[in-house]
Amino acid sequence: VTEDVRDALARKRDGGVLTEDEIRSLVLGYARGEVADHVASAFLMAAFIRGLDGAETASLTRAMVESGTTLPLRGVSRPKVDKHSTGGVADAVTLVFAPLAASLGLAVAKLSGRGLGHTGGTLDKLESIPGLRTDLTVDALERQVEEVGCAVAAQSRDLVPADGTLYALREATATVPSVPLIAASVMSKKLAVETDLILLDVKAGSGAFMKTPEEAAELAGVCVGLGEAWGRRCTAAVTDMSQPLGDAVGNALDIAEAVTILRGQDHGRLRELTLLFASQAMEALTGVPSAEAVSRAEHALESGDGLETFRRMVEAQGGDPRVVDDPATVLPSAPHIRPLLADLPGAVTSMDGEAIGRASVMLGAGRLRKGDAIDPSVGIVLHAKIGDRVEVGQPVGEIHARDPVSADAAAARVLASMTVSEEPVEPPPLVYGWHHA
Ligand code: URA
Repeated sequence: VTEDVRDALARKRDGGVLTEDEIRSLVLGYARGEVADHVASAFLMAAFIRGLDGAETASLTRAMVESGTTLPLRGVSRPKVDKHSTGGVADAVTLVFAPLAASLGLAVAKLSGRGLGHTGGTLDKLESIPGLRTDLTVDALERQVEEVGCAVAAQSRDLVPADGTLYALREATATVPSVPLIAASVMSKKLAVETDLILLDVKAGSGAFMKTPEEAAELAGVCVGLGEAWGRRCTAAVTDMSQPLGDAVGNALDIAEAVTILRGQDHGRLRELTLLFASQAMEALTGVPSAEAVSRAEHALESGDGLETFRRMVEAQGGDPRVVDDPATVLPSAPHIRPLLADLPGAVTSMDGEAIGRASVMLGAGRLRKGDAIDPSVGIVLHAKIGDRVEVGQPVGEIHARDPVSADAAAARVLASMTVSEEPVEPPPLVYGWHHA
């Protein structure tokens, strides 16, 4: 086996192509603990540098799906939609989308990931709710989706275990921002769950793994192509990540922000994008005309229907449901909160989303090494967006930290990540384009 694996690694290293069997034995072997970290790391780095062609990407995706059981969701009677982001900063769309879509009569069974690199992870955010569990069995996930309308769970020994293990290894080996590796990771989790529609949020910009809309469009095309090859309906939006999407960059802070949106009290870009996805799903799956789908989704936020569904989801997963009534009391809070004051006057022209995400990781909200513990309470709240005018000394957000030293360091990093100009600046578009299969 070792000789064969070494030959395959050498071929990929030199720009050759791997067979379906080679990819399958690497991926399945690694998921079972029979292939060592260093062997899988060499594969990832070779794949990162040399790329994977369409057939290799499909083989990788298939092997990852085959590493666990699939979820046919036969017991779920409503139209089923799944949604996934390729990873962003202040990107809590799923936390709002899942209960919102469920309150509109759709079913959302979502397998999510943990924070990766500078980006946050839905599972980490959700687990900041005391008691909440994401290690649902296949049966529990299906039952919850039928009863509540939505569930957000981790990859497990049952569901796409190979993505859980490879994801952590990619994080540790600087092999995350690769089109085929991200496409296989995202799509394996989506293909393992039988849904009627896959919605992908492919992020583009400084806070995303794909830094330009063109690269993101390539990733969207590969993902949608994989969906099509599997005979699945799949829609991808390339969306702006040239700045944090919402205001909260952390874990508990994102939950608090999601609750505010579900209460109908926040009208920013995070809410707007979530409404777009929810109305797209409704239109595609129920045939409701677009304008009506948008107004029904807005109504579900204003009426509190989405919030009630979130409460039921949290409760079903063992979390403290009072988080929807009083997030500040229920969620962990950081011991040190420092205001963030603008240090230059002018219109915000750009933000380095990755630097802001890294500042949050340095505070303890994300992992520097595979398996590190995170601190759910810490993070950044940043209200300023590209196009806003700020004055010197104006409060633009807060740093939530364990101590004053790390708060000061994070504040300096966040301020350094922003540029301003004398001239007025147009905000970037929210959506660059849609891809359908
Ligand atoms: N999200 C995923 O699920 N996988 C990746 O590789 C990147 C973002």
